[in-house]
Amino acid sequence: MKPADLKQFKQRGEKITCLTAYDASLAQLMDSCEIDLILVGDSLGMVVQGEKSTRTVSVSEMVYHTKAVAKSCNQALVIADMPYQSYEEPSMALENAKLLIDAGAQMVKLEGGAERQKVVETLIENCIPVCAHLGLQPQKVKKASDYKVQGKNLGSAKAIIEDALLLESLGVEALVLECIPSSLAKLVSEQLSIPTIGIGAGKDCDGQVLVCYDMLGITQGKLPRFVRDFTAANSSIPMAIKAFIQAVKNQSFPSEKESY
Ligand code: KIV
Repeated sequence: MKPADLKQFKQRGEKITCLTAYDASLAQLMDSCEIDLILVGDSLGMVVQGEKSTRTVSVSEMVYHTKAVAKSCNQALVIADMPYQSYEEPSMALENAKLLIDAGAQMVKLEGGAERQKVVETLIENCIPVCAHLGLQPQKVKKASDYKVQGKNLGSAKAIIEDALLLESLGVEALVLECIPSSLAKLVSEQLSIPTIGIGAGKDCDGQVLVCYDMLGITQGKLPRFVRDFTAANSSIPMAIKAFIQAVKNQSFPSEKESY
């Protein structure tokens, strides 16, 4: 799939499926199950490296994992996260984004809105497709209590809408919305022609993403309400991945209970 194909999903009303992957074997399996997108997320800092946040992940680590994933994908679009402090200013962002693209990513994802305008413009001017990320931005999280629903009051909801419209006008191809009320995600999704990919943002986003270890029942401890363990009702990993794809496509995931 090409980045430009994403808009067509939204135009024909087909939900987009996305899971994170960090290694060749899982990426190959997801690709063979016909997942639409694979995100090499900087969540790898937490779920692979055992860190408390995503902020310790380096560009060279992202390049390493992106190479492993990209080599194994025939049809899925591969998106790589730009790690914390790798896109502080435009020339640095461009240099690091090129490393991820050279590693095989077809698109890079970065967190933030208006404050990232110059960086986003530079990447797009240099033909690097960009996915933005609003709502809960894990790279901004400093303590456990920062993991909370964003955009709950009028001011913060308005800021998310304004950022989303700005990012679309700059030319981003897709927008991840994390941990915001479903009603706000619906409003944002309706106002944009680019697809929104939700995680904890309700069923009206144009697609859904989950961290693979969460939906495969591997992550231990208390998980956010938006996580569904797809292995609970499926007896193998391929079946769980196929069940996730089916549930997103037929809009039975996420349920109201899995949303805010
Ligand atoms: O790093 C990641 O896994 C992400 C998803 C939570 C969207 O950014």
